[in-house]
Amino acid sequence: MSLDPFWDWLANTDLAFAIGATWWFPLLESIHVIAIALVVGSILMVDLRLLGVAARSYAMRRISRELTPWAWAGFAVATITGAGMFMTRPAAYAANPAFQTKLVLLALAGINVAALHNLAMRDIDRWDTDAATPRTAKFAGAVSLVIWAGVILAGRWTGHLN
Ligand code: HEM
Repeated sequence: MSLDPFWDWLANTDLAFAIGATWWFPLLESIHVIAIALVVGSILMVDLRLLGVAARSYAMRRISRELTPWAWAGFAVATITGAGMFMTRPAAYAANPAFQTKLVLLALAGINVAALHNLAMRDIDRWDTDAATPRTAKFAGAVSLVIWAGVILAGRWTGHLN
């Protein structure tokens, strides 16, 4: 089933015109970049702790507890601003290989958090306050860093391919 009729409808909404033809688009993109900094910045610190290379004097649980809400807040703002930009040219973005790659990587980032983080955190009582971290934690942190670097690259490339 083609989504083209839906993309056409979306692109012709008053909101899509209000964003696409005015300063709203660069404003949304600027807020999108700030939200990305919040998401990726807080996840980066959790991953570097999982890797055992940063914030080593802090307990893993405490780092995760303090920073995860900020990551979710940034993700919510990135999704709202991203959707606002997306609806200005939905068919073009949906067909854009960089944008498709970004959405796939975002899904993988979610799976990584659910699977690997839970795997690494299962025996957290054993290493929570240790500076050194177990291999599963290092693996979860490394996979997350690679995925989020890919999301940023694909996000930046989106505008170049459109
Ligand atoms: C936390 C998740 C996200 C990250 C890390 C991210 C990352 C990025 C990056 C790095 C850019 C380029 C910004 C620039 O240099 O100006 C970008 C642009 C964009 N993002 Fe996202 N993004 C995220 C979520 C989303 C979502 C959920 C959507 C859609 C629903 C979306 C839609 C867009 C669009 C439409 C652009 C503009 C591309 C253009 O310049 O034409 N983003 N994103």
